[in-house]
Amino acid sequence: MIPIVVVGSLNVDLTFSVNSIPSRGETVSAKDFHVSPGGKGANQAIAAARLGADVSMVGRVGADPYGDMMLSNMHGNKVDTSHIFTDTMLKTGTAMITVEKGGTNTIAVYQGANGACLPSDVDAADDIISKASALIVQLEIPIESVERAVHLAKKHSVFTILNPAPVCELTPELLSNVDLLVPNETEAEYLAKMRIESSRDAVEAARKLRSMGPERVVVTLGAKGAVFAGPEGEIYTPSYLIDAVDSTGAGDTFLAALTVALMDQMEMSSALSYACAAGGIATSRMGAQSAFPTREDVEGFLYTNTPGRISGTVVSNRTADGSF
Ligand code: RIB
Repeated sequence: MIPIVVVGSLNVDLTFSVNSIPSRGETVSAKDFHVSPGGKGANQAIAAARLGADVSMVGRVGADPYGDMMLSNMHGNKVDTSHIFTDTMLKTGTAMITVEKGGTNTIAVYQGANGACLPSDVDAADDIISKASALIVQLEIPIESVERAVHLAKKHSVFTILNPAPVCELTPELLSNVDLLVPNETEAEYLAKMRIESSRDAVEAARKLRSMGPERVVVTLGAKGAVFAGPEGEIYTPSYLIDAVDSTGAGDTFLAALTVALMDQMEMSSALSYACAAGGIATSRMGAQSAFPTREDVEGFLYTNTPGRISGTVVSNRTADGSF
């Protein structure tokens, strides 16, 4: 099994299903409501574990029922929790999510105990980081802790993956220690300081981001797929056409699947298709972690869905001029 360490956030997701996301000042009735485990870090940890990796998570929850729920879900998915601390001062991180018909969402996050996941928590995990094949981090914990985790991983020659969400300015030192940067379209626009209106723009953004440090960059484009720039070349991978229900955690699933596939020595273009399939499956189901596919789910999906097959569920919407 591939050992992976995820350093990051754990949130309880309070999800409201609505016909359309309320605009400012508007009140709408929700059709449904769910309380479920989420948080970008926890999502990526669970998604990688479901795909067969041996995952350990570093983070913090509050000493409250939501914290217990997060830990028990980690145990149920065989994620090692010995480096998840229970904070007696702060509440478990909480996300308020609205999901509208078609799967689009909005998310507001209260950081809670995630904000107390300090560099000292990361230092305490030095031993497991040193034995990992890959380290995954995002930006829902203090940036100093992200920097420390990436620094330690690099010291131990562990492959580092940064999902810059929610996006903020990143130091050249952090970026130079990242082996694989995986922003979404909005995050890539912010970091590369350019607009992305086509797959060609996305490749241009990936090139710019590479010049800032990371050797490999994948820009995810939601329903439009993903682009890659790195030593293997430049690749555009279309996504699978699926019946979208809830996009919450789809990007987390994509990132986890890409990591597992690459650590499994899959070549980059196949790993991107594998990740698009995993993200697509997650989008076709309600919720975050409860929607994440197993390795068997993804293999079955790829077996029955061949890119370009009209009768299947896959489309390429790339056009000759590089627009979507
Ligand atoms: O990426 C999706 C996640 O973002 C949700 O689970 C929510 O908790 C927020 O962290």
